[in-house]
Amino acid sequence: MLLHRIEEVREKIKQWKKEGLSVGLVPTMGALHAGHLSLIKKAKETCDKVVVSDFVNPIQFGPSEDFDKYPRTLDADVNLCENEGVDIVFAPSANEMYGEGQRLSNDILTYVCPPFFYVNTLCGKSRTGHFDGVCTVVLKLFNIVQPEYAFFGQKDAQQVIIIKKMVKDLNVPIQIIQCPIVREDTGLALSSRNKYLSEDGKKDALVLSKILNNIKSCYKNGITDVDALKETAYNFLTDKHDMEYLEIVDKNTLENKTKADNNSIALIACRVEKVRLIDNIYLE
Ligand code: PAJ
Repeated sequence: MLLHRIEEVREKIKQWKKEGLSVGLVPTMGALHAGHLSLIKKAKETCDKVVVSDFVNPIQFGPSEDFDKYPRTLDADVNLCENEGVDIVFAPSANEMYGEGQRLSNDILTYVCPPFFYVNTLCGKSRTGHFDGVCTVVLKLFNIVQPEYAFFGQKDAQQVIIIKKMVKDLNVPIQIIQCPIVREDTGLALSSRNKYLSEDGKKDALVLSKILNNIKSCYKNGITDVDALKETAYNFLTDKHDMEYLEIVDKNTLENKTKADNNSIALIACRVEKVRLIDNIYLE
């Protein structure tokens, strides 16, 4: 069932709660692919009722980012969700979420600001305000849907760490379930932004997963020095790759390390054909 209004969603949820049914939420920005579907499948296994939100959230995009051209495929998304047995697809307008004609700014609206330590690193460095926008919309969705469980992908590793931190710090009574990264057979992590890449670009994009896999195998072969592990990336990079960051940090706290261990995660952000791609791997 496709719903656009907050009140309609609340009505349905109220009914389900009365019947004692558990609710799972899968927040998305639409343009659904097999990565999103893996979250939906996990939600179906875990909960009686599943809500997928489909909303390209304006406040998590910077002024020079791709908000306008972000792929919007609501009809196809609804079909995919129906095939998976999703109970509600919630696709609000920006007016519905933030108020009619509202200027979207934190001088006017209440925003949720995750701690500086978690946002002033990795993706947060180049995407000022991004995680404020993510936490704000996710907390709003949590309050609208009031699920027992919410499902997020490891693909956006910093995002799920920050969401878990928000839930803990603000006593949000929701269990966050993290799901593994879904990849193409080639190793490329699925992303709605892969649609921007040409066939050649998709081949060049394989470098992200190759760099990460190589770091993991070097770690397994006994190299633990983080600088030495990061150095190995240069064997793969060409002038087609505009690297933004490559870091090896603690998988729970994002703290920097000089020596990698079994709690480490390697994360990469790199532009290919001007498309910003991210990927990560646990070293254990
Ligand atoms: P979006 O990019 O649409 O992603 C929705 C969810 O799908 C996220 O939890 C993301 O980590 C997960 N996902 C994306 N690609 C995946 C893959 N290849 N394998 C597994 N999971 C994958 O992330 C957002 O939207 C937004 O920031 C949102 C949380 C919805 C807030 O607006």
